[in-house]
Amino acid sequence: MEIKLSKDYEKLSSLVAIIVAAQILENPQSKLVLPTGSTPLGMYEELVRRKLDWSLVETFNLDEYIMNPDHPYSYHSYRPTLSFEDKMNVNKGIDLCILGIGSNGHIAFNEPGSSFKSRTRVVDLSEQTIQDNSRFFDSIDDVPKQAITMGLGTIMESKRIILMANGKHKLNILKVAMNGEVTEDVPASILQKHNDAEVFYCD
Ligand code: GLP
Repeated sequence: MEIKLSKDYEKLSSLVAIIVAAQILENPQSKLVLPTGSTPLGMYEELVRRKLDWSLVETFNLDEYIMNPDHPYSYHSYRPTLSFEDKMNVNKGIDLCILGIGSNGHIAFNEPGSSFKSRTRVVDLSEQTIQDNSRFFDSIDDVPKQAITMGLGTIMESKRIILMANGKHKLNILKVAMNGEVTEDVPASILQKHNDAEVFYCD
């Protein structure tokens, strides 16, 4: 798969924001899956600047930590699970799914070894992911050990998928995922099997 290089983070962000905006303009009732992590923040800022009409758009989070529901960062984690997959089935799928990639090749919170057929479920986070994401918490002990995530099978049912990655530290895993063997050891490699998936990167 081709890894399309953007000049800088602003370009990467605006490129993906334009794709999202075009999707909403084309179909105001679009169903979108949107990512967490630091990479998409610039895209979200650009989308806010564009003042789109989101009133009929349905959005789904890719993943969420499992943590105390009283915690300010909680999303009442368990509740979306069933309603999410119910909606997926009833509504016949997602129009556009935006993804990031973890340093171990995970997408959403589908860690290495996740089944390509997996659905939305509760997962244990890998040591690598806990370590990587500790930068968002006061200490590594505060990082939740479990999360709820869309499955790889669920993600692959999206009509269109865009993966965005930022930084030199992501390049090696991107190359492995997009040009190496398609294997459950590298969850993002499943995107090679999608007929409308693109990868955008800036270093
Ligand atoms: C987390 C999220 C992923 C995200 C990844 C990369 O683990 N669960 O969905 O893609 O981080 O994050 P970042 O964009 O901060 O590198």
